Amino acid sequence: MPDTRAAMRLWGRLFADIWQQSRGRLLVWVLGTGLVTAGTLAQTELLKRVVDRAFAASVSGGELALLAGAAVLFAALRGVGGYGQMISLSVAGTRAVSTLQKQVVARLIGADLAYLQARVSTGIVAQVQRDTLLVQNMLGPGLGAVGRDLVTMLALVGWMFWVDWRLSLMTFLALALGALPIRQLGRRAAAHSATLNAEIVRMAARLGQLLQGIRQVKTYRMEGPEVARAWAAMDRTTNAYAGEIHVHALSTPLMELIGGIGLAALILLGGAGLSGAGPGAGTLVAFTSGFVAISLVLRRLAAAMVARRNADAALARLFDLADTAPVIAEAADAVDLPRPQGAICFERVDFGYGDGPATLTGLSLDIPPGAKVGLVGRSGAGKSTLLNLIPRFHDPDAGRILIDGQDIRGVTLSSLRQHVTLVSQESGVFDDTIHANIAYGCPGASRDAVRMAAHAALLDEFIASLPDGYDTAVGEGGARLSGGQRQRLALARAILKDAPILLLDEATASLDSLTERAVQGFLDGFAQGRTTLVVAHRLHSVKDADLILVLDQGRLVEQGTHDALLAKQGIYATLWQGQQ
Ligand SMILES: Nc1ncnc2c1ncn2[C@@H]1O[C@H](COP(=O)(O)OP(=O)(O)O)[C@@H](O)[C@H]1O
Ligand SMILES: [Mg+2]
Repeated sequence: MPDTRAAMRLWGRLFADIWQQSRGRLLVWVLGTGLVTAGTLAQTELLKRVVDRAFAASVSGGELALLAGAAVLFAALRGVGGYGQMISLSVAGTRAVSTLQKQVVARLIGADLAYLQARVSTGIVAQVQRDTLLVQNMLGPGLGAVGRDLVTMLALVGWMFWVDWRLSLMTFLALALGALPIRQLGRRAAAHSATLNAEIVRMAARLGQLLQGIRQVKTYRMEGPEVARAWAAMDRTTNAYAGEIHVHALSTPLMELIGGIGLAALILLGGAGLSGAGPGAGTLVAFTSGFVAISLVLRRLAAAMVARRNADAALARLFDLADTAPVIAEAADAVDLPRPQGAICFERVDFGYGDGPATLTGLSLDIPPGAKVGLVGRSGAGKSTLLNLIPRFHDPDAGRILIDGQDIRGVTLSSLRQHVTLVSQESGVFDDTIHANIAYGCPGASRDAVRMAAHAALLDEFIASLPDGYDTAVGEGGARLSGGQRQRLALARAILKDAPILLLDEATASLDSLTERAVQGFLDGFAQGRTTLVVAHRLHSVKDADLILVLDQGRLVEQGTHDALLAKQGIYATLWQGQQ
């Protein structure tokens, strides 16, 4: 949990945003608070006078009517002020939090791959939702009420001291004594509700993953253990909730006790005064009502302190996300990469994921423009990693990558990625129509262009068999498609994008060999004039490549044409023989 000063700075930032966006509403809130406070003070003073005058027995009918009228007026004042308060800060706060949430979403979508891979994405979504809720509750019902309560309470206390400082001093000493254990309770309640929040988020993340991998759950007959696990998590949530309630409940007898002591002080001192030179009856009655009001406010403040601790942590997480700038960013003087010829050059590139071991070591390669290059090697050799460096999904730890002689760190990310298309095994099919999925990234593409791309990826027969054709929705992650259909959809999308550099990472691995050969036939034609890097397990598909690169444990160990590599009798020859 962030320390108080850091938390205050964050709230300050949020309020600066609120001030920026909703100055008017904030003023309404201040005005409303002023009205409520004035109304409360006036009511208390009224009570004092009513009692004093009533005891005096000399009160006239006109005077009584005046007092009654004033009572209605003051109540109305409080009512109007309260309304203004409620609508102003809640709405202004919701708006500021929504702005923050928008920043968070933009940051998440723009975040580095490495950043996202290091977090469970379902967890991060649940966390953002929960945190937003916590901050919103704090701002609206929480802070709005707390602010009003504080102001009203201070005003009441001030009034009481002004009327009779000795009586007030004794009364508030009793209150102060009670504040200490309340603080302690607040801390314990905060611990419970922090547990509660963490459990809720963890459970949402776990359930999200389970439903995505539900086939695995069923295959390995893990329904029972998973349900038990979820139930255990729910029990922990319930317990934390019960603990929180328990602590809150404890504050009730405590507050009652403090209230009792305070009242006792009032009675003793006031009673003594009644018979002597002390405060009058009106003061005593007004003080009693004021004191009760203050105790209630204190109780609400104690609850708000607990909410604030949680909201502090939530706000810190939200700002942290909103402030996380991607590491992979454009240089200030980045220029647009014009449509390249497609020469790709790696100069002594080293790369490792995070703090892990090196995945690529001293990698140097030279790919002439328009070449078809096969990338082969055992699983885990670093083939996918190599491809991912070209569109800058990751940056090398050392060395450079050049396209047409230009360091890719010196060009804009948008122009780089416009000219490089990566088709990986993760097909990235979204819950939308077939048309929208193919035209993803080219939203303006004509029906004909989409049709041609689908035809090239051998999808048209399948699409024709669908009742809604191109307008058929494919389900979440393409759930209504076969693996091969998803892959062809991804290929059609890549074909439509028409980039001069094409990276295919086992992009045809889930196709049957007949379809694969047909798609490959098209791709060979499509590849004319483009640089293509093809990672393939079936070596047949790269046999006729201009250049074959063999990776082993992150190093380039062999390169050449198929025939040259066979003659070499090295790793490639072994892999080839294994597939015959
Ligand atoms: N996101 C990642 N975080 C950490 N390590 C990774 C990540 N992706 C891949 N690796 C590791 O990098 C190595 C190379 O992986 P990869 O490039 O996918 O191999 P290939 O595509 O040749 O099978 C493997 O040892 C793998 O465990
Ligand atoms: Mg791979």
